[in-house]
Amino acid sequence: MPEDDWQRAVLGDVAASADEPGPPPAAPNPAPVSPPPADVTAPAQADVPAPAVADVPPPAPEPPAPAPVLPPEATALLTGKPRRGDSVPRRLGRSLRGIVGSSAARVTAEVTAVARQLQQPVTTGRQIVVTSVHGGAGKSTVSALLGCAYAHYRPDPVLVMEANPTLGTLPVRLAAPSLRWTMSDVAKVVNPSMRFDQVIGYLVGLPEGGWLLPGSKGQIGARVSLAEYQTVAVALRRYFAITVVDCETLPGELARSALAGAQARVLVAPATAEGVAAARTVLEWMGSVPRPMLPGTVVALNSTSPHTAIDLEAARRYLRVGDVSVLHLPYDRHLAAGGAVRLPLLGQEMRDATARLGAELLDRAVRR
Ligand SMILES: Nc1ncnc2c1ncn2[C@@H]1O[C@H](COP(=O)(O)OP(=O)(O)OP(=O)(O)O)[C@@H](O)[C@H]1O
Ligand SMILES: [Mg+2]
Repeated sequence: MPEDDWQRAVLGDVAASADEPGPPPAAPNPAPVSPPPADVTAPAQADVPAPAVADVPPPAPEPPAPAPVLPPEATALLTGKPRRGDSVPRRLGRSLRGIVGSSAARVTAEVTAVARQLQQPVTTGRQIVVTSVHGGAGKSTVSALLGCAYAHYRPDPVLVMEANPTLGTLPVRLAAPSLRWTMSDVAKVVNPSMRFDQVIGYLVGLPEGGWLLPGSKGQIGARVSLAEYQTVAVALRRYFAITVVDCETLPGELARSALAGAQARVLVAPATAEGVAAARTVLEWMGSVPRPMLPGTVVALNSTSPHTAIDLEAARRYLRVGDVSVLHLPYDRHLAAGGAVRLPLLGQEMRDATARLGAELLDRAVRR
């Protein structure tokens, strides 16, 4: 089996194993929300045979103890209100231009078109994997932005998963109230006969909409194995219209496999000369693997500092390998300040860039 065909292979396994008793012996069928009635069959895909359901459901596993997303000492460090992306003069200037500007109608038409793309129907779950050329490029920030945007614009369920457990910032960025089950925990208990209300019992419901599956509870040394990721990614795909994966940095094995199995990918690269050079190298590699990944790929050139010192147009041209598209994410004060990402507090440029990135990715994901 080619390394990049694991989704199909495992989906085949899931379909085949749906006639069998189901979960591994060490993982009894859980019922975190309510136990399934005896005649419940698997939701979603009509071609998946109904699983056999035991007469008496085995006992649910003991839920892990909840952990705070930040220790109370760290939460106490926060002062005042979160920072807005745009300064007051900037907001004022924009609202004046909105009143007297002749381009207001054009802007409205553009916004409507992007919103429509973000709301386009999705038949089977689409996975969008976010990775980067090196650490600190903005993967978790971009994952949180995408998760918030999809949850805001779409009525169907959206999941954000963390496949990068080392003291990740994703739960903070998504304002998760607390953490309980991790990806490794869920890999041990998930099975094809679970209902949606059971599945979300293992996830963190987010205040801005959507759900989170964290990679860890913030401890040193936690790991998400490739096998755990594959089990969870395949099992949860049919419950969620869109899954955004905050993945480890390339060229880790998990990142390579997750990229190959996804319908769309974001390569986050710093908007610097060295960031662009590294992104180009990664794109050439993506085009050379047996099942090329370029068609579903978008490069997000991310400005994590207020002064972008490269020619963005030239960078776009240099990164146009295959039909990859390149979008710029501007520096944003709200994001730079850390803490929970809130779409209404982003600067206008970042809000527009987020919507465009989400729309472009979804377009690519549904075409595959
Ligand atoms: N567009 C932006 N504007 C301002 N600050 C940003 C922007 N994007 C990211 N940042 C900041 O850059 C830092 C790194 O971002 P982030 O944690 O998302 O990177 P990462 O790739 O997930 O890092 P890691 O490899 O450690 O997981 C954070 O402090 C974040 O607030
Ligand atoms: Mg991160």
